[in-house]
Amino acid sequence: MLRTIVLLALSLPAAAQLRPDPSLLRTIDTNLRLAVVQYRYLAAHTPSGVLPRSFDSAAGSVTTSGSGWWTSGFFPATLLELYGVSKDTALYNEAFRRMRLLEREQYNKTTHDLGFMMYCPFGEAWRLTGSAADADILMNSARSLSTRFRRAAGVIRSWDHAPWQYPVIIDNMMNLELLMWASRHSGDTSFRHIAVTHAFTTMRNHYRPDYSSYHVVDYDTVTGAVLKRQTAQGYADSSDWARGQAWGLYGFTAMYRWTHDRRFLSQATHIADFILAHIPADRVPYWDYSDPRIPDTYRDASAAAVMASALIELAGYVPPAEGRRYLAAATAALRTLSSPSYRSAYGANGGFLLMHSVGNIPAKTEIDVPLSYADYYFVEAMLRYRALGGSNRF
Ligand code: GLY
Repeated sequence: MLRTIVLLALSLPAAAQLRPDPSLLRTIDTNLRLAVVQYRYLAAHTPSGVLPRSFDSAAGSVTTSGSGWWTSGFFPATLLELYGVSKDTALYNEAFRRMRLLEREQYNKTTHDLGFMMYCPFGEAWRLTGSAADADILMNSARSLSTRFRRAAGVIRSWDHAPWQYPVIIDNMMNLELLMWASRHSGDTSFRHIAVTHAFTTMRNHYRPDYSSYHVVDYDTVTGAVLKRQTAQGYADSSDWARGQAWGLYGFTAMYRWTHDRRFLSQATHIADFILAHIPADRVPYWDYSDPRIPDTYRDASAAAVMASALIELAGYVPPAEGRRYLAAATAALRTLSSPSYRSAYGANGGFLLMHSVGNIPAKTEIDVPLSYADYYFVEAMLRYRALGGSNRF
């Protein structure tokens, strides 16, 4: 991610014309200083041997997961993001302690989430240290993820459970960076081929004419034909689950960064335009853009954080007027997330930074709670925003 920040700050002609708002930059510095002490607090309140996931306010305790859950990498990855700006070694040591728990997942072939779980923390670690051991873990993770690709469908399988035959969820766009990294690192183009093929198949089959995305597309394992287009975490099969729209935006923007293929850039700008046409003025979406109960339903801070981070990057790849529009939306989202309505105080919210995210409303889990991935993308977005002002350290 640091490399992305440097790229954004130094090498994109369009990025040079994007002026960050000085008052938001000051707010971000305050947020980041507070985040450092909040994450120390969160570390102190999370039992060893597990990874923090959310906070149960009724029980007054952090909810946690083992290494195999899709969110396991976000806590150490956020610690490393915050170490990158603060150079606080307590955060660094805590990150590596928790990452030891994750190492076994490099051989996990039962999940598509290895990008989230492994590339976020170990990619961050590798950029900080250049360690061959971290690179080996990433290469093994990429090999495991690649086993889930089938040529007939042209996509990486997401889930292994019923009622689907070969389901792929839009979230899977977020796992492709691991493969792109592995290809660049090793010179083995097969990883890149899988990632690019997955992205083009997703572009063809997951998107509606208005550039909103279905959540789940189920494929025929043998022929690769599309069987169904559905939702698992959204309001309805035909609706626009907010985090799914953000995953797609982020995923196609990242694929443009890795490939410079303008079809990915075009897809990302169309998705951004769909989101901006439907999101409230404060730029924090309701959990599903099509929920008929809006405005009497939940917001999703995690979707806002993912969107803001992606828009800051995307703003650097498009002509200046368009870039300013995307940056303005990201600025508004970061301002709202930085307000007391979303940004928690020290010792509150279990130590997590953001309040008011939703995990899975149809499954009635993690509704209106903090989530480790909301914090990760919030911090990433703030670091990307600061980089536009040329700043990588406090
Ligand atoms: N990748 C699962 C989610 O976004 O909830």
